[in-house]
Amino acid sequence: MNRVIVYPEPSWKIPREIYGHFSEHLGRCIYEGIWVGEDSPIPNIRGYRKDVVEALRRIRIPVLRWPGGCFADEYHWKDGVGPRENRPRRINTHWGRVIETNHFGTHEFLDLCELLGCEPYVAANVGSGTVQEMGEWIEYMTFGGDSEMAEWRRKNGREKPWRLPYLGIGNETWGCGGNMRPEFYADLYRRYRTYVRDYGEEPIYKIASGANVDDYRWTEVLMREAGHLMDGLSLHYYTVPGTWEEKGAATGFPEEEWFETLKKALFMETLIVRHGTIMDRYDPERRVGLIVDEWGTWYRVEDGTHPAFLYQQNTIRDALVAGIHLNVFNRHAYRVRMANLAQLANVLQALFLTEGEKVVYTPTYHVFDLYAPHQEGEHLPLRYEGDEYRMGKEAIPLVSASASRKKGRIHLTLCNLHHEKQVELTCEFMGTSVAYREGHILTADTLDAHNTFEDPDRVVPRPFDGGVVSKEGVVRTALPPRSVVALNFSSG
Ligand code: AHR
Repeated sequence: MNRVIVYPEPSWKIPREIYGHFSEHLGRCIYEGIWVGEDSPIPNIRGYRKDVVEALRRIRIPVLRWPGGCFADEYHWKDGVGPRENRPRRINTHWGRVIETNHFGTHEFLDLCELLGCEPYVAANVGSGTVQEMGEWIEYMTFGGDSEMAEWRRKNGREKPWRLPYLGIGNETWGCGGNMRPEFYADLYRRYRTYVRDYGEEPIYKIASGANVDDYRWTEVLMREAGHLMDGLSLHYYTVPGTWEEKGAATGFPEEEWFETLKKALFMETLIVRHGTIMDRYDPERRVGLIVDEWGTWYRVEDGTHPAFLYQQNTIRDALVAGIHLNVFNRHAYRVRMANLAQLANVLQALFLTEGEKVVYTPTYHVFDLYAPHQEGEHLPLRYEGDEYRMGKEAIPLVSASASRKKGRIHLTLCNLHHEKQVELTCEFMGTSVAYREGHILTADTLDAHNTFEDPDRVVPRPFDGGVVSKEGVVRTALPPRSVVALNFSSG
């Protein structure tokens, strides 16, 4: 029998920020996906899509990263403040050379975060910007006194300074953010970081641009040369079923590609452990957070769409990828302090797909909904013992899981990774009695089932009655193939 054994021993609090998101000026993420403008016929709250705002509040979005991505290192913030009609039109050189109107800028972003009740995470331009430009941006956003930048902010309609809890110093500085070597960037980070002034009550959490996937040398050099001056170090890893040239399609894929995708999603755990081991050498107290500020699936774009807009469908396979990642982040939250799915709307593994006023909540959105009770829960260690999922010569675990406790409730999330087999499972809670409260399941009849504008509720969570506790305190359950299940228990 397959077993999940949960140990209700105190470990660490799961930071809300692990359930974070990322919005870039790329394709239709910001424009149309979030911002439609006050005069739009699309229902909006001060220019932000009403449907998206409400759906983000429902999943308790904790933090939003902006303005990029690669866009961040070509973004000059002064373009995006002041009367919208006067803002310069620029070329979005990285993403399709389309015109950037700058209608969504600093005020629009920070006001959105206030509306959503989430923390802003701003990525500063290191690749093509200056220290002065970054310093003035911080002053503009956060200084409450009588300075030129603060006065300019007031003139532009915002009296009080905003809170700026998180600042990224460059993005992918090994690539689109300047093609730097880690030694060079480490010095540059030290220099930029010196001028990040704390004008507000809370200090700004400073995040250095971290490694691409398994570039362990990058982490080594950054930690050695600048670890003592950073609060967080980022990591970017995308789940690509094929190669960067032939990524694979979002729908209509064979079962081998299902397996390959989930295997690659599981690789996130290896990356966290290996980068974490290097960080441990320089930072044994684990003060510096690993910030996975870009993760998610990356497929071939949908036929007929702009190749640089990165628009892709989102299926039950993406739901499993999300479930795997969030379980991994919960289990490694002693080091992973924040994670941001790429991206919020209409780009890569999106929460929302939009078409004019129509919106679709993707299977990935529903996973964030099912996992939301983990936010700020006390993580409970667990172990899976049981069958593997085999394809040819390869094998991965059949089940991915994580658990947390909050206010007398235990929340257990389970993913059956198999494309066609049901998994019989027992869940055993060591040293505590539990009573089943409720459960939900996200599953679908085909490997690429997804929600469309015509059929928006094909893949949605449904009540799950498979969590009943036996007299011995063991939960016997059966997870249908390709399913994400969230179970809630009260614990004695
Ligand atoms: O999310 C899309 C892009 O992927 C980001 O702009 C960049 O940081 C990464 O390479």
